[in-house]
Amino acid sequence: MKVLFTGIQPTGDIHLGNYFGAIANWVRLQHEYTTYISVVDLHALSIPYEPADMPGRVADLALTLYACGIQVDKAVLFVQSEVPAHSELTWIFNTITPLGELERMTQFKDKREQFRASVNVALLDYPVLQAADILLYKGEVVPVGEDQVQHVEFTREVARHFNSRYGDTFPECQALLTATPRVLGLDGDAKMSKSKGNTIGVLETAEQIWAKVGPAKTDPARVRRTDPGTPEKCTIWSYHLLVTPEAERADIHKGCTTAGIGCIDCKKRFQANLMKVLDPIRERYAELAGAGRKGIMERLDANGEKCRAVAATTMAEVREKMGLKRE
Ligand code: ADP
Ligand code: TRP
Repeated sequence: MKVLFTGIQPTGDIHLGNYFGAIANWVRLQHEYTTYISVVDLHALSIPYEPADMPGRVADLALTLYACGIQVDKAVLFVQSEVPAHSELTWIFNTITPLGELERMTQFKDKREQFRASVNVALLDYPVLQAADILLYKGEVVPVGEDQVQHVEFTREVARHFNSRYGDTFPECQALLTATPRVLGLDGDAKMSKSKGNTIGVLETAEQIWAKVGPAKTDPARVRRTDPGTPEKCTIWSYHLLVTPEAERADIHKGCTTAGIGCIDCKKRFQANLMKVLDPIRERYAELAGAGRKGIMERLDANGEKCRAVAATTMAEVREKMGLKRE
């Protein structure tokens, strides 16, 4: 089987963007690939954070991923910082990465603006650590949301640079997107994102979600209930595409364009369909976070060990090729 590698930062609760933009693919593809999924806590250190919160965030993210459908016997879910070779290979890759390539990265430019007061070297080096993540396991397929495609392309460049300088070692990986590689934010923003406060979390209850969806903006042309709308201009419609079956969607589309239904009806139907996906996740999470927690934490330890062994094999090869192996 080919190797799949992906990662997610423990920086906040998993939301619909993460789920429909990436995680849904992980759940599906874990059966077809040798699958590694990393909780990338080292990446999360590149922005301001509270050390006391980190262990809880890491555990919670792992529990949520299992609740979303990642299976213990299919995917190797592990914590990045428990495999020191990620940092070691980052340094190695730093030596073959042109500075200009990192300065051009969209995410770096965005974060440099966002965290103007504390732009550290890690923010710039972030894609190199990501390349090390993927290539340590010789990952070939990298399922991510659209915002990460540039980093996967960068990883391919790193592999190419390394292979041409030191001999064929790493595969050239491919990003793999879902049908909705960019989920809009509740505020209509181009991206639902933890840092923008425009998310619907996968563990939220129907009531919590309604408190956000009820007041959310729709097509601005629908001022009154009798005004027809254009679904394609409405964030809620983009959400129907995620969860509402096609036949019902056709009905809602017609209802909106003919003013047959109001925005509240439309939102209620979205909520009902969304809860069909989220209720089982929340229930599984409650089980795992209670009785299942100890077993999951032990699984993370065991997976860390497994990953250290895989990483050690790759590092031995890298050291030898780079002249770091003593006679
Ligand atoms: P966030 O951007 O909210 O901090 P992460 O950076 O941890 O989330 O992203 C984890 C995964 O979810 C990545 O593969 C990322 O591309 C994907 N993802 C995040 N937000 C979205 C979104 N709004 N639409 C599609 N995919 C997304
Ligand atoms: N940078 C990714 C994000 O913000 C997370 C990540 C780290 C990742 N390492 C990775 C994704 C390796 C895919 C493969 O979402």
